[in-house]
Amino acid sequence: MLARAAAVEFLRAARHAIAATGRFTVALSGGSTPKAVFTLLAQDHVTGANSLRWDKVQIFFGDERHVPPDHADSNYRMANESLLSKVPIPVENIHRIEGELNAADAAARYEARLRSVFGISARAVPRFDLVMLGMGPDGHTASLFPGSSALAEKNALVCAAWAEKFQAHRITLTFPAINAAAEVLFIAGGADKTTMLRNILHGDPSGQTYPAQTVHPANGRLTWLVDEAAAGLL
Ligand code: 6PG
Repeated sequence: MLARAAAVEFLRAARHAIAATGRFTVALSGGSTPKAVFTLLAQDHVTGANSLRWDKVQIFFGDERHVPPDHADSNYRMANESLLSKVPIPVENIHRIEGELNAADAAARYEARLRSVFGISARAVPRFDLVMLGMGPDGHTASLFPGSSALAEKNALVCAAWAEKFQAHRITLTFPAINAAAEVLFIAGGADKTTMLRNILHGDPSGQTYPAQTVHPANGRLTWLVDEAAAGLL
């Protein structure tokens, strides 16, 4: 089960980071796939099976839709309902992207929050212990969509970009922020990902490239967790 494997990886990374540094900094992915992972993590806490020192976890988000936190499309709302409201994590450890604001303002405030929590200067890049990512059938990841202006961002950690396919802004971590991570964990399942997963991992026969292929932690571990359906062409 894809969700269980992802929950095990999350707990492994968390325990390793907490043992090594006293905290675990993680950027959660959005969309629908992570919900089952978060639900299992919440259940583990209740059963005590794999309980974690949630007070030592710092929660960030890989991206957010340009909506308020109570909106049905909010990645924060999904994570809060399936996990964050069910574990004893201090509210000050949850660093939400304020999707209710002007998108550029939300990006700037989130970047400032990142720098503050990581204790880094204006030019340094934070090193997340774990960045969780999903992949869309079009090869996007986080809110880094094909053709997006965000793909070219080399300095900012966070940016707001227009997502043509949704006719809306999105706020997203940039490749510099993602590729500085100690670990990146892609979770992709379902037959709608089969062709794109082949393209991402083995190359598109037409030679086209996709945003998810630009995720290469410079000094970190990259793991893909996929189910049989998504792996059908590998
Ligand atoms: C989002 C995510 C996005 C997601 C992929 C896969 O905000 O939607 O950040 O990158 O991970 O689109 O989504 P599913 O898990 O719903 O297939």
